[in-house]
Amino acid sequence: MNFRKNILCIGAGYVGGPTMAVIAMKCPEYRITVVDINEDRIKAWNSDHLPIFEPRLEEIVRQTRGVNLFFSTDIKKNIKEAEIIFVSVNTPTKTFGQGAGMASDLQYWEKTAYQIIENSEDPKIIVEKSTLPVKTAQAMERILKESKNHLRFEVISNPEFLAEGSAVRDLIEPDRVLIGSHQTESGLEAANEIVDIYAHWVPREKIVTTNLWSSELSKLVANAFLAQRISSINSISALCEKTEADVSEIAYAVGTDSRIGSKFLNASLGFGGSCFKKDILNLVYIARSYGLTEVADYWESVIKINEYQQERFVRNIIKAMFNTIVDKKIALFGFAFKANTGDTRESPGKHVAKKLLEEKAILSITDPQALDNARSDLAGADGNVCYEIDPYKAALNTSAIVIVTEWDVFKSLDYGRIFENMRKPAFIFDGRNILNHRHLFKIGFNVYPIGKPSLTHFEKS
Ligand code: NAD
Ligand code: UGA
Repeated sequence: MNFRKNILCIGAGYVGGPTMAVIAMKCPEYRITVVDINEDRIKAWNSDHLPIFEPRLEEIVRQTRGVNLFFSTDIKKNIKEAEIIFVSVNTPTKTFGQGAGMASDLQYWEKTAYQIIENSEDPKIIVEKSTLPVKTAQAMERILKESKNHLRFEVISNPEFLAEGSAVRDLIEPDRVLIGSHQTESGLEAANEIVDIYAHWVPREKIVTTNLWSSELSKLVANAFLAQRISSINSISALCEKTEADVSEIAYAVGTDSRIGSKFLNASLGFGGSCFKKDILNLVYIARSYGLTEVADYWESVIKINEYQQERFVRNIIKAMFNTIVDKKIALFGFAFKANTGDTRESPGKHVAKKLLEEKAILSITDPQALDNARSDLAGADGNVCYEIDPYKAALNTSAIVIVTEWDVFKSLDYGRIFENMRKPAFIFDGRNILNHRHLFKIGFNVYPIGKPSLTHFEKS
């Protein structure tokens, strides 16, 4: 079949894979190839066991793979053949040198720029899909200008707003698609080519076009605002626990104000995921590098509250269990950083598990998708941990259950049966406020939600 255009995506991760699968499904006249330096990942994309779990993803990949969607490790050939190249490589926090622990590590990003100039024979549109510091496109352009045959590359910013666990839905029905370009004739022309792709399924009024720098910075700001809401409600959850107010009632009362809105106000044991922390750190670093100390401090406090919330959660567990958890068996219900994903990057579960192990507890961890990642995350940790897919087995002979991830399956378990097979007194620490606390209390549990009064059978001292 003759395709209208060859689109390449460099980086077959959580963003590159699902995004290209949806573009392939919606744009059958385009040939889409996704490449990666990680051979195992590409092998998995070409197999029946995709490297990531996302609801509906398997079905879309099965429908498009080998038709107009291809996964390959041949980066050189595919760069040569592509007219549009999305770059969706990882941009983690730098761990070394200047800006360590704060700035974005752009080494993977920069390598792709060199791969592109070394293997291109025609002009191309380069699309920044990764989340990048503002003004990265300028650096990209400077490298691309050095191409041996003086080819013209237009750099476009098209940040991705999908959330894991709902990636396919977010891609199919996005709140908006953001496309940033230089406001020059060639910049606008290139931006239009990218608009054309999304216009196959996204209503035109939801495709927002801006200048390059606004687009790059909007992505960091969107994540910072989302995380800020969680830290705001989590900070209030600590106050609720001191005052017998209920954080869910407060979230409802506050969130029904249409100027505030109800989403992202679920108090929790802290936010996780590969991006919130790294993107805020990056925003803080950028602000500091421009001498904007107050701005940097303001956003840094969002991360500090998140760390405080995770610490506080563990402290509360130890305190409630009579200040010692040595040799006590504790079940972690969930390990993924949120429901409907197997991803454990920056998961609060990892922090909780490590802290409980340091206190010499014995852990049994259950999660419907994240056990493999949990195993490798805790590989170096000292202590006694077992992994169990069945939550009933995971809870056997434990003294406490800690809800880490808000999986639906944990909401509908028979907690009466679980209680019978636990050591007494039995505790539940609901780090997501997903369970029926009054019901659990009636069964016999001592219940510790987030930001709500605890329900215990102990006499008040
Ligand atoms: P990821 O680590 O899952 O995938 C990145 C992939 O790029 C890896 O498989 C890696 O092997 C590959 N890669 C690195 N350098 C390469 C090179 N030179 N050539 C070919 N392949 C290369 O990362 P991700 O979660 O998909 O995130 C990618 C970017 O998207 C990041 O900037 C992230 O901040 C942003 N983002 C992520 C999400 C999310 O939900 N994960 C959402 C929105 C935006
Ligand atoms: C987040 C953003 O929501 C996406 O728009 C963005 O594209 C993405 O980061 C990114 O740049 O990587 P993601 O991290 O996948 O998506 O998932 P979220 O749904 O945002 O959840 C992040 C964390 O916050 C999870 O640990 C979740 O459990 C927690 N959370 C979320 C709360 O604790 N309370 C809430 O009310 C909402």
